[in-house]
Parts: sequence; structure tokens; C-alpha cells
Amino acid sequence: MVPETFLVIKCIRILWWGIFLSYVTVCNGKEILDVKNEDKTCAIGKTCSLYNTGDFGLFYTLHNSLEMEKLGFGTAGLGENTYRCVRQAIAAGFRHFDSAQADEWYQEAQVGSAINDEILEGTLTRGDLFVVTKVHPRNFRKEKLLNAFETSLKNLRSEYVDLILLHYAGCWPDGTGPGFCPENSGSWFVAWDALEELYQQGKVKAIGVSNFEVDQLDQLWDYSKTKPHVVQNWFDPFHQDEETRRWCSNHNVLYTGYSTFGSQWVYINPDIRSNPVFGNPVLRKIAKAHGKTINQVVLSWALQKGVAVIPSSSNERHIQSNAALFHGNVNTNQLSVFLSEEEIFEITSLDGQLETD
Ligand SMILES: NC(=O)c1ccc[n+]([C@@H]2O[C@H](COP(=O)([O-])OP(=O)(O)OC[C@H]3O[C@@H](n4cnc5c(N)ncnc54)[C@H](OP(=O)(O)O)[C@@H]3O)[C@@H](O)[C@H]2O)c1
Repeated sequence: MVPETFLVIKCIRILWWGIFLSYVTVCNGKEILDVKNEDKTCAIGKTCSLYNTGDFGLFYTLHNSLEMEKLGFGTAGLGENTYRCVRQAIAAGFRHFDSAQADEWYQEAQVGSAINDEILEGTLTRGDLFVVTKVHPRNFRKEKLLNAFETSLKNLRSEYVDLILLHYAGCWPDGTGPGFCPENSGSWFVAWDALEELYQQGKVKAIGVSNFEVDQLDQLWDYSKTKPHVVQNWFDPFHQDEETRRWCSNHNVLYTGYSTFGSQWVYINPDIRSNPVFGNPVLRKIAKAHGKTINQVVLSWALQKGVAVIPSSSNERHIQSNAALFHGNVNTNQLSVFLSEEEIFEITSLDGQLETD
């Protein structure tokens, strides 16, 4: 082969490798970029590969930079046990507490009293806690809302609330149930204005809504001067509320799931007599594979999808088991059950398997 031909072939080879390597670099770059973008969509179950067990993190950061514990303690339905359970939850390591003004379901004053006693005993300071309450739609008129908020502060023995939510977009009109409003109570637009005012005054550190549909969230987005920081909705393996979570992900709003252990099903569907989460074979299999319990698997699944969770329990052992999701204590950074993408997919596939009525 003449030297010139050899040189040409060598050049072509170098060129070819150059093109190939740039292609690989660009594609890899894109792949990495896509995965990073999907970090957000992890919340709707696409991929969770960026999370790792080493430093999972205890907090979500809201869009105003406020930090909120990913794992909180729900206090609905605990009745007279609320005080005891909140103290047991604090002892187990919980620092984020979910309450509401609706005394049909919640004992806000018992939450406040438990917290206050812990503070008096020196276990913690108010600043260590993240306390959430919700405004019932019967208090949506501005003056009523501001009065109800003052009552919440008294109940919670605090000068501020970390997060306040509109509990529902409105009352339901059956005239008897706990969501019934005895009088025309005002619209959620008026209530939102009042929340924005409290936020501007620093009396609440974040504001949001609960049980809002996506079209209502769109309306809220257009209407609000301060954008919602949190949306709290029903979320469990059979009810994954994907549309709302996608909305939250697209608007940088944190999604919190309630009734993650499936408690809603027994209220909503009369054919479902016992909790479908604790009896599910897929969840049981995954729990067994990790040597853990179903509650921990479900909570890990939710957190790995980017959802905040607020499990409730009246049983001290259960409270401790839920807290132990973070290696023995809710204050450690690592998840004690870290699910593979396949396992997350298996649980995500349970969505829609039960009928709401
Ligand atoms: N915004 C809203 O409209 C709304 C609506 C509903 C709920 N929430 C909030 O979300 C919180 C949680 O929802 P939820 O109370 O409906 O239900 P949940 O937390 O999903 O489940 C509570 C049920 O799970 C059981 N449980 C808890 N931990 C367990 C464990 N480790 N092992 C076995 N069983 C366990 C409890 O029984 P034991 O007591 O025997 O442990 C109880 O029956 C509420 O407390 C409330 O703060 C908000």
C-alpha cells in the first residue's frame, strides 16, 4: 500500500472514531439529562434510579425553601388517644404532625397539648417540629377563617403553623355527614386570599390545599399570588392519583399522600370489608423478600416515588414500626427498606385494581 493511501485510511478511521465518540458522549449526556429530568417524574413512577440508600434524606424542600420531613404522623381518628399517640410518635422520632380544625376527625388541642408537654419537659423545641393544620370549608369566609386560625394557634399552643391547607374545595351537600356546612360558608377563592394574608404576616410558613381536583388546581394556579406549596390527597397502592401528582411535579408543588395504608377503601367501597393493603399478596411477597413489614414497604414505595407520607396509628408498636422506616429511627437518613425499580413497578401496577364504588 502506498504511504498516501495508508494515510487517507488512517485519517478516515480517526474521523470515524471521532464521530462515534462524539455521538456516544452526546447520547450519554442526553441520557444523563433525561434521567435527571425524570428525577422529578419519579413522583409519577417512571424511574427512581437516582435515589440511593446511602443518603436518602429526611426532608423535602418546598418551593419557598422551607424543609418538611418526608415522613410525618397523621392524627385523624385517634380521638381520646391523640395525646398519648403524639407523645409516642415524638418518642419514636416523628417531628412532622398532621392535624386539622375539623373536630369530627381530629383533636387539634390534644396534638398541641402533647407537643407543649414535650417542649416543657425539654425533649424538643417548637422549631424542631413541623405542624400542619387544615381549614374546614365551613370556615371559608374571611372573618370566620381568621377566627378559626386563632383557635388553631391556641389549640396547638403555638404562635405560628408550619403549613396550613384548605381541607376541601367545598362542603358536600348531603346535609348530615361530617363535611356538611350548616350555612353558606364562602368560596375557596376567598379562603385562599386569607391564607395568603396569613402567609405574608409570617403566621403560617407554607400554604396549600387538600382534596382538590386538577381543574381546581389549575384555577388556583391562575388565581393565586402565592403559589401553593403542598397538595395533600388520597394516595395508596390502589389509588395513586397520578394526574394530580403529575400536576404537582410540573408545578413544583410537593404532593403529600394521606391514607397510604388503604384506610379509605373500607369507607368508600362497602364490598371491601378489610384493609386491602395489609392483605395484598404482592406487598406481602416484597415485604418477605426484604425481611420487613408491609407498612414499611408501602411507605418506602411512596417516598421513593417522591411522595410525602403521614401514616397514623393508635398502636405504639405500629408507630415505632412506621418510624423505623428510617433505620430504626425516623431521625436517620437511610431507608431501612430500599425497593428495586422492579419492585416499585410491581406496586405501581396495583393502581386501579380496586373500584371506588
Ligand atoms: N386531607 C384529608 O382529607 C385527609 C383524609 C384522611 C386522612 N388524612 C390524614 O392522613 C393521615 C393518615 O391517614 P389515615 O389515618 O386515614 O390512614 P392510614 O395512616 O393510611 O392508616 C391507618 C391504619 O393503618 C393501621 N396501621 C398503621 N400503622 C400500622 C402498622 N405499622 N402495622 C399495621 N397496621 C398499621 C392503623 O391501625 P392501628 O391504629 O391499629 O395501628 C390504622 O387502621 C390521617 O391521620 C390524617 O392526618 C387527611
